[in-house]
Amino acid sequence: MDSAQRLGLSPEWSHRLDGVAPVKPRLPAPGVLDRLAVAPDDAAEIRAGWPSDEWPEELSWLLGRVVALVGANLGGAGWLVPGPWLPRGLGPDWKHFYVYVYLALLEDALAYHARRGISEEVSWATLADLGRNLAIDRRMNGEGWSVMLQWLTLHVRGGLYELGRLQYQRAREGRLALHIPRSGPLTPQACDASLELARPFFKRHFPNESYESASCGSWLLDPMLAEYLPPGSNLLRFQRRFELQPGGEDAVDDIMHFVFGTHTTPLDGLRAETSLQRAVLAHLRAGGRWQRRTGVLAL
Ligand SMILES: CC(C)(COP(=O)(O)OP(=O)(O)OC[C@H]1O[C@@H](n2cnc3c(N)ncnc32)[C@H](O)[C@@H]1OP(=O)(O)O)[C@@H](O)C(=O)NCCC(=O)NCCS
Repeated sequence: MDSAQRLGLSPEWSHRLDGVAPVKPRLPAPGVLDRLAVAPDDAAEIRAGWPSDEWPEELSWLLGRVVALVGANLGGAGWLVPGPWLPRGLGPDWKHFYVYVYLALLEDALAYHARRGISEEVSWATLADLGRNLAIDRRMNGEGWSVMLQWLTLHVRGGLYELGRLQYQRAREGRLALHIPRSGPLTPQACDASLELARPFFKRHFPNESYESASCGSWLLDPMLAEYLPPGSNLLRFQRRFELQPGGEDAVDDIMHFVFGTHTTPLDGLRAETSLQRAVLAHLRAGGRWQRRTGVLAL
């Protein structure tokens, strides 16, 4: 049985990976996990599964190919599925496979940043989203993983930057995509300061790209929140920065993820501790839905 069969790859992934010339992954020393804000419990697991000659052959086969595949898109800023879904219960090597992919791409990402004159401070603040996301996944008992998989390829391809409170994804048509990490209150002051950083950042480091506005697509922009939260709340003050675009998509999954940290707990099993959680639950129990809306602000 070959590696693709042992991994149980779909015909699409088999075909795709067969056509990729593998690279020899260059992993940094594990000490880098500190700089990536990886918490001790996650770091211990990652170290325990670290790629070695004892690694299952099929994982080594896959690592060289996935690193090549994602690495070939250095400088890209679109969404990218980095590789096939893997079982996560077979040990830390399987569980953290995509963390090793991230680590193997770190040197290239840092070199890309340096070529663009991006400060080390911004590089490491951006790349340390790894540790934040691993901690979220741990709190969610592994349910956060599917979100991480595509998300973290943006950071190591130079597609996204964390500038103060907010993250900015280079995007098309003169518009940045704005993201809100889970890093404390979303105060107006912190948002203003971040936008102040973003305006000159992209002009300076990506002079061939021109950004006049930023868009945000999020549950945070559902106008229904105004029925429940006080006008002075950070969430509503954030909303008021944006011009809402028509249309929306169901955001109940997003709300479960970002507000309750679960995708599997039934409504009756959820405990509401904050005013937002109480609002979300009351609304859902009354048969209401939440929407992901897109808003645009001028830079
Ligand atoms: C964006 C975020 C920082 C806003 O939090 P905030 O600054 O505390 O917002 P507000 O001050 O407006 O909060 C109003 C109330 O809602 C609560 N609240 C806000 N966001 C919450 C969340 N994600 N989960 C649970 N409660 C939340 C606050 O604790 C506060 O409750 P209280 O009145 O009982 O004290 C927070 O929602 C968050 O960390 N979200 C995760 C990341 C995210 O959703 N990103 C967007 C992805 S599309």
